[in-house]
Amino acid sequence: MKNSNVLKILSIFGTRPEAIKMAPVVKKLEDSQGIQSIVCVTAQHREMLDQVLNLFNISPDYDLNIMKSGQTLNEITCRALKGLQEVIKETKPHMVLVHGDTTTTFVGALAAFYEKVNVGHVEAGLRSGNIYSPYPEEMNRSLTGKLANLHFAPTKGNESNLLKEGIDEDKIIITGNTVIDALFKVIDNDYRFEIDILNKIDYVNNKVILLTSHRRENLGKPMENIFSAVKEIVIKNEDVEVIFPIHLNPKVREIAFKILGNTDRVHIIDPLEYEPFANLMNKVHIILTDSGGIQEEAPALGKPVLVLRIETERPEAAWAGTVKIAGIEKENIFRLTDELINNKEEYDRMANAVNPYGDGKASERIIKAIREYFNNI
Ligand code: UD1
Ligand code: UDP
Repeated sequence: MKNSNVLKILSIFGTRPEAIKMAPVVKKLEDSQGIQSIVCVTAQHREMLDQVLNLFNISPDYDLNIMKSGQTLNEITCRALKGLQEVIKETKPHMVLVHGDTTTTFVGALAAFYEKVNVGHVEAGLRSGNIYSPYPEEMNRSLTGKLANLHFAPTKGNESNLLKEGIDEDKIIITGNTVIDALFKVIDNDYRFEIDILNKIDYVNNKVILLTSHRRENLGKPMENIFSAVKEIVIKNEDVEVIFPIHLNPKVREIAFKILGNTDRVHIIDPLEYEPFANLMNKVHIILTDSGGIQEEAPALGKPVLVLRIETERPEAAWAGTVKIAGIEKENIFRLTDELINNKEEYDRMANAVNPYGDGKASERIIKAIREYFNNI
């Protein structure tokens, strides 16, 4: 590699969170001398992906456009694998970069492996230890780890997980999480929303809850429990308002509207673009979520988070005290939320700005490590 002039790096992603977390890396690659940045999106998500591409001004070189409403995991896997094989054959990159744990991530790494192309895994080494939770993400991330040549681990704990699985220490680089790079670019304490309803809400005198929920393993009874608990909280506490930017998955929308539709002080709105969403996190009182990325962003903003899952592969913020695992049972979610609303001491204990996930320079470290990797082979 030492004599080669230009390093071709192909970044592959497909969903909203991958796009948010890869955007800072792609922008840095675009600005790096001696690197040709190529972007391929599977578009496993469509509208929610495009929102992020527009915000960060990224024009993909390849767009596989695979999203179909209510798509199955098999469909995503097959269509993405076929499309990616063609893109990798055509572009012949030195390295493929994938991010995190989605089906696009695993398939991107697999397609690169089949073409004997190096794989760099951004956000490597997170583990819950339960292959069915998060499902299928825990398995996607582990399998991607098996296929990767370079592992960009956000934290020391993530590095330890990889070492336990026999990954060479010199192939792991602790970088912080690129989500903090993205978050720092969009937070503005004087932010005004374009959506009027978000400007009208009284964030000072009311206790505003931000709710998100989309995980596959929560579809069905767990989601019914979550939404019923939220409904009871709103009925019991007259100063509570809920904002729920709802995922476009029709299965989520059906359950949510059945339980929370037409409920006073519950605002169900379409998914927000990243900039308003991040600034909304910055304004609300508490966050209830089963999202991975939000568990990383909210602690940096000092917002208490109740995680609507039975475990997490992101324990660092729970160790720091800003995040609690609330589970998926109605009583527990109700009890912990009510406590945060009515017990000031408990609220203040959790509302500490901590940032176990990085300093906003993860992308820089990733690109430096990629250069070093190719200088040494
Ligand atoms: C996917 C990822 C999950 C990630 C989540 C982030 C997998 C298996 N799952 O889950 O890890 O946490 O994205 O949000 O990779 N839809 C639209 N428009 C969009 C996006 C989704 O209409 O822009 C609808 C479609 O009907 C689609 C459905 O949502 O079929 C589900 O999308 P899918 O990518 O299959 O799974 P997610 O639950 O979004
Ligand atoms: N997000 C957003 N708009 C929304 C909801 C979430 O921009 O309406 C952002 C959020 O800040 C985080 C990411 O999307 O960066 C998380 O995506 P999601 O919850 O869909 O996926 P996960 O992180 O669980 O994989």
